[in-house]
Amino acid sequence: MGAEPVTRTQRGRIALLTIDNPPVNSLGAAVRRALDRAVAAALADPGTTAIVIAGKGRMLSGGADIREFGKPPAADAPVLPQVIDRIERADKPVVAAIHGTAAGGALELALGCHYRVAAAENTRVGLPEVTLGIVPGAGGTQRLPRTIGVKPALEMMTSGELIAAKRALALGIVDELVAGDVVEGAVTFAEALAAGGKGPRRTREREDKLAEARANPSLIAEFRQQIKRSARGQESPGAVVDCVEAALTKPFDEALAFERATFQRLVASDQSKALRHAFFAEREAAHVKDLPEDTPAAPINRAAVMGCGTMGAGIAITFANAGIAARVLESSPELLEKGIARIRQTYAGMVDRKRLSQDEMDKRLALVAGTTSMADLADADFVVEAIFEDMALKKDVFARLDAACKPAAILATNTSSLDVNEIAAATRRPDRVIGTHFFSPANVMRLVETVRGKATSRETIATSMALAKKLGKVAALVGVCDSFVGNRMYYAYGRQANFLLEEGALPQQVDKAIQDFGFPMGPFATGDLAGVDVGHRIRQQRAAQRAAQGLPPDTRRYSAIADRIAEKGRYGQKTGQGWYRYEKGGRAPIPDPEIEALIAGISKEKGIERRTVTDPEIIERCLYPLVNEGAKILEEGIAQRASDIDVVWIYGYGFPRWRGGPMFWADQIGVQKVYDAMCRLYERDRDWLEPAPLLARLAKEGGTFASV
Ligand code: NAI
Repeated sequence: MGAEPVTRTQRGRIALLTIDNPPVNSLGAAVRRALDRAVAAALADPGTTAIVIAGKGRMLSGGADIREFGKPPAADAPVLPQVIDRIERADKPVVAAIHGTAAGGALELALGCHYRVAAAENTRVGLPEVTLGIVPGAGGTQRLPRTIGVKPALEMMTSGELIAAKRALALGIVDELVAGDVVEGAVTFAEALAAGGKGPRRTREREDKLAEARANPSLIAEFRQQIKRSARGQESPGAVVDCVEAALTKPFDEALAFERATFQRLVASDQSKALRHAFFAEREAAHVKDLPEDTPAAPINRAAVMGCGTMGAGIAITFANAGIAARVLESSPELLEKGIARIRQTYAGMVDRKRLSQDEMDKRLALVAGTTSMADLADADFVVEAIFEDMALKKDVFARLDAACKPAAILATNTSSLDVNEIAAATRRPDRVIGTHFFSPANVMRLVETVRGKATSRETIATSMALAKKLGKVAALVGVCDSFVGNRMYYAYGRQANFLLEEGALPQQVDKAIQDFGFPMGPFATGDLAGVDVGHRIRQQRAAQRAAQGLPPDTRRYSAIADRIAEKGRYGQKTGQGWYRYEKGGRAPIPDPEIEALIAGISKEKGIERRTVTDPEIIERCLYPLVNEGAKILEEGIAQRASDIDVVWIYGYGFPRWRGGPMFWADQIGVQKVYDAMCRLYERDRDWLEPAPLLARLAKEGGTFASV
């Protein structure tokens, strides 16, 4: 930070106050103090007729300093609502000059100014507080509805979405867009105000938009109903609605106090702590512990994808979306055509849903080229293999890729379970082999597990992590083990869900309990989406592998329900029936008596007397073993840190973000509690449920996963 985080310069009769607090001009205590003083000085200066508030560098301001949340306020600095209040009450017009991002507290500050001018290019404004489990706490919930109307304000604040300049102008958030230098534009705007004798336009006094909303008394109740489902247990969107309701029913200052109290209550809540954890965990995941920050990442200009099935097509789209040319290799002209058609259909669907313009679709499609000849991959910088999950096939293909591709190229595998070291050993460049485990659908899901083999070089890791970021993904670095972090934990979870069915639960009950916990879907609806046949095939392959290696069959508890369902040809959504049945073309799971009978039959075969399974038991039985497996993964060094496991589960499996991910959740409910329950379960059922040594140690020491 420079000596003075807010500078005051004079432009004729306009005072220009510039926030200078790199990197994002966050509104920490020093900035608030300096801004408050600078405003007071400008107001006291008889030579000043109007004030412009701007930001130096990349943006006006990224908002509050999140690290200050939940800490006692600095005694020697005003809080943001006070700073904004004094600006709004000013008797000279105050203009905000917005460029880059004005998020959260920064937009609240701008809304406290009397007028707003924004750069036409690269401007984004919004109130994303809800994503951190809080509400805007410096008047945003009061001033935004007064500025743009109740409904659009509710939509912006409950989604947390940042919007671009043009839309901000259309909504009325900004008064004018400037094509060139925004500061010059704002100064000119302020000069015109002063010359025209226009005084302050205080947002707190703007009542017309509220009056419109009051004419529709059911508006708030309807909106509350509407967001309930999408919030999935998260508290902050509903709290935003409460604050806006207060704007309609209470005098301004009272409603402002209500907003502040709501903010303070939520900032101290477990949900907000979890969401802040998720925010930092995502950033932390990008850092590789033993990788010096200056490790060079090679530029990736040309990518190649081998295999254009479900995953390959999605990965090729991901490259094209990021503006990287992708050559797609298939094994025959027919399959290639099918694969390219898959890519085209996905884009066409986006155009139909108005997510993409036809023009943009054409541009992106032009980046994808097909081939059936490996020689055409010779100039690729980065190759992702996404062919069938078969070790012999993959080894053969990697040996051939090694021969065909230029020496500097990185060869990545999208395997979801196989040993990356063994695949790398099939090449003469094991240092440039890595796993990039995308999730399905690869163009939508943000997670990539980046799998580091024992020979993978630092440069290869740095390049792959940087590439993931460029692709708009969140990468978590993991080590080699069967099924890596996410799926390995998923098996621990899914297995117990199946056992619960044998003991007395039904798929719809398990799914509902898991959904009520906050997941978008339970394990059985997920199974129907992914394909019941997929897991079935994997289990068959594993059993065959074991036999081929001369190992005795695994005698641990096994549930055959899923296999029986697959054997009936019930593969899930794609066949119209699986764990559930589906109306023609529908995606809503409908409980099926045939499955209930099948499950009851298996209980009987196994001599298990069916009993009532409660929802809390479902959570405990499914999620504690999930945490337990996470503990083993952490202890084995497969994940770098507990928060990376949280990132994997939030972005790859829909673990409720507001619970912070499985490891953070375990810390919050208490490692001891999880350990005690695991001991109890192990005592009764043995087999898969042995408590992880790390879990035992942390329970004994009163430690947390965060501290490992
Ligand atoms: P898929 O069966 O949909 O696609 C595989 C494609 O590879 C097919 O189009 C096939 O023609 C092509 N192919 C096979 N051998 C080839 C060769 N020698 N040369 C060129 N193309 C060849 O399979 P999917 O589901 O896309 O899986 C691909 C990989 O991604 C597997 O390793 C899988 O474990 C992994 N994966 C799959 C996920 C999923 O949800 N489907 C999720 C994450 C990883």
